[in-house]
Amino acid sequence: MDVLGIDANKYYGKEEALKYEKGSGMKKVQFEITSRAIELLGLKTGKVLDVGCGTGFSLEILKENRFEVSGVDVAEEMVKIAKSKGFEVKLGSMLDLDYSDEYFEGLISISAMQWINGNNVDEVIENYKKVASEMFRVLKNTGRGVIQFYPQSKGEFELWVKCFKFAGFKVETTVDEGASHQKGNKKFILLEK
Ligand SMILES: C[S@@+](CC[C@H](N)C(=O)[O-])C[C@H]1O[C@@H](n2cnc3c(N)ncnc32)[C@H](O)[C@@H]1O
Repeated sequence: MDVLGIDANKYYGKEEALKYEKGSGMKKVQFEITSRAIELLGLKTGKVLDVGCGTGFSLEILKENRFEVSGVDVAEEMVKIAKSKGFEVKLGSMLDLDYSDEYFEGLISISAMQWINGNNVDEVIENYKKVASEMFRVLKNTGRGVIQFYPQSKGEFELWVKCFKFAGFKVETTVDEGASHQKGNKKFILLEK
């Protein structure tokens, strides 16, 4: 579970976590993406989990939209900042979610899943499958999810789609072209249990 050999918990140390939280434009971009994810989620109320919640930008918007929000993130310093804002956030990995079965009506994950990796192809597939089946497990029947992330290739995106289907989800995808953000197009995976 690393990118170029960097572990997310190590990468987002105190300095990087503060930089993320205070970085110019970061909050605005994440707000934009989350607002779109909420629109795509198509839920009005209920418990929603933010997977890879970071310092809590998406949790803020979810709360403004009257959802009961929880977050999970693997980086201690990111979790500290999210908790300092009063959010209910667990320190842990999306590979092994510390929530009971069928607990949430919805989940979102914004700009986090590109961190899931492995030392070889088999390990990558195994890890993607673990994340997908954990997401499936914690969602109630008829639960929904929206995933946005930055795949490095079309293959990476398609592999995630396959793994979500394998976990049991009905899956759709959508791409918003020409987003204002420098990373360009925004790819979303829509999940329905
Ligand atoms: C670019 S930040 C995005 C944070 C937040 N979703 C937002 O939109 O501002 C990516 C986050 O994914 C988290 N992350 C990486 N791997 C994770 C894992 N296995 N489980 C949970 N969170 C993870 C990182 O710690 C980091 O906080």
